[in-house]
Amino acid sequence: MATLLSILLAASVAGSVAQSPSGYRSALTHVDSKGGFTKTELLHRAAHRSRLRAATMLSGYSTTSSNSTSRPRLQSGQGEYLMNLAIGTPPVPFVALADTGSDLIWTQCQPCKLCFPQDTPIYNTSASTSFSPEPCSSAMCQSLQSDNNCTLNSQCMYYYDYADGAYSAGVLGRETLTLGTTASAVSASDVAFGCGSDNGGDSFNSTGTVGLSRGPLSLVAQLGFGKFSYCLTDFFLPSLSSPVLFGSLAELEPRGGDTMQTTPLVQNMAYPSWYYISLEGISLGDTRLPIPEQAFQLRNDGTGGMVVDSGTTFTILEGSAFMVVLDHVAEVLGHPAVNSSSFEIPCFPAPSGQRQLPPMPDMVMHFAGGADMRLHRDNYMSFDEEGSSFCLNMLGDDATLSGSVLGNFQQQNIQMLFDITVGQLSFAPADCSIL
Ligand SMILES: *[C@@H]1O[C@H](CO)[C@@H](O)[C@H](O)[C@H]1NC(C)=O
Ligand SMILES: *[C@@H]1O[C@H](CO)[C@@H](O)[C@H](O)[C@H]1NC(C)=O
Ligand SMILES: *[C@@H]1O[C@H](CO)[C@@H](O)[C@H](O)[C@H]1NC(C)=O
Ligand SMILES: *[C@@H]1O[C@H](CO)[C@@H](O)[C@H](O)[C@H]1NC(C)=O
Ligand SMILES: *[C@@H]1O[C@H](CO)[C@@H](O)[C@H](O)[C@H]1NC(C)=O
Repeated sequence: MATLLSILLAASVAGSVAQSPSGYRSALTHVDSKGGFTKTELLHRAAHRSRLRAATMLSGYSTTSSNSTSRPRLQSGQGEYLMNLAIGTPPVPFVALADTGSDLIWTQCQPCKLCFPQDTPIYNTSASTSFSPEPCSSAMCQSLQSDNNCTLNSQCMYYYDYADGAYSAGVLGRETLTLGTTASAVSASDVAFGCGSDNGGDSFNSTGTVGLSRGPLSLVAQLGFGKFSYCLTDFFLPSLSSPVLFGSLAELEPRGGDTMQTTPLVQNMAYPSWYYISLEGISLGDTRLPIPEQAFQLRNDGTGGMVVDSGTTFTILEGSAFMVVLDHVAEVLGHPAVNSSSFEIPCFPAPSGQRQLPPMPDMVMHFAGGADMRLHRDNYMSFDEEGSSFCLNMLGDDATLSGSVLGNFQQQNIQMLFDITVGQLSFAPADCSIL
């Protein structure tokens, strides 16, 4: 009797492991959630990360070199949002950067040649009953965004080299991946992942990454979710977590409400796994800004266009378009920006004694298909107390980059739904803290 029961129990546990969940709710925590940073510090840290990330995301190749396919197409190891996962049997928890700009799920892995200290024990393939190495010949190995490599025993090696000096290398394997660490956690077996036994670089602070891009190795693709949504809470309250919903749970609230806007996801053949959307113009208040439409056009060589990215804080606009936006914001504030060096967001001196942003019109991003993203003042401006200035939380492409990025500061309190099956992005305003 006891034996039968334990067999049944074992079978039902195995069954729940083998079956991929149809939907899942999780939370994203901000990388600066701990540390008690001031508003000014949060701004400066985010501006720095945005620049680093953009410099590596968008300068992957220049228009003069047509050989983009030979380069690893990776971003900075810097990211903004973290997710809790666990890997192996028994499950070992780890914290991963949630990244819409990359595909691979990887974690630090024993035996470590080089690993960063992490709060939880580092996952060890030999201590897990569900690990298997991925053969070189497999489709997963072939679809690595990095150069792949085969060891003598034909294991698939990956090497993700982030342009800011960070890297993660190891073998590609398959494991049981558990989303969440609480009682509500769900598992999926045989998920391809990077077992990172060699992880280095000064700027790196991640013990793993969970890729949410469109690529075949991403969590979204491997678990067959088809769609996901997230809703980012207030940037200046980094201790608030942000909900992320996968698969059947990923719907905008209210479902199909009239505030919902939808625009097609565009495919850039040079970066097929990134989420590109077509920005057609920008308004400030009632004024459509005089930006030529081609400023945001995705060109045949893969440059231009706009990527939606969870890992870039401040939106980056093509240089000439950015100057137009900056001029019009300056006009509203009645003062030109001071020192908008390319590494800093542009700020405007606040009149003495003024400790708050003045009322400002909404900025509207017009996307293809008539989808308007309305950015309230606090989605594009902030008050820098230490500098006594008003800052425009956007950056201009300084010509070393090759496109625009919709950053997560602009996505605060807008629920974003990426439907990969249908190929569209929908969004609607929401109070993300109560979603
Ligand atoms: C691009 O790189 C590949 C592999 O390194 C090489 O075979 C090819 O000739 C290069 N193409 C051009 C146009 O440089
Ligand atoms: C990994 O697990 C194996 C089997 O439990 C153990 O012998 C080994 O010492 C572990 N390695 C490390 C580095 O913890
Ligand atoms: C593959 O591995 C060999 C031996 O470790 C190394 O010399 C070579 O540079 C690697 N190639 C790539 C593309 O990583
Ligand atoms: C990495 O984390 C440590 C400890 O939290 C922090 O001191 C350091 O500044 C971080 N590095 C980067 C590049 O963010
Ligand atoms: C502007 O930048 C210059 C040179 O980088 C610096 O000397 C000056 O103090 C800056 N001015 C302001 C107002 O920040």
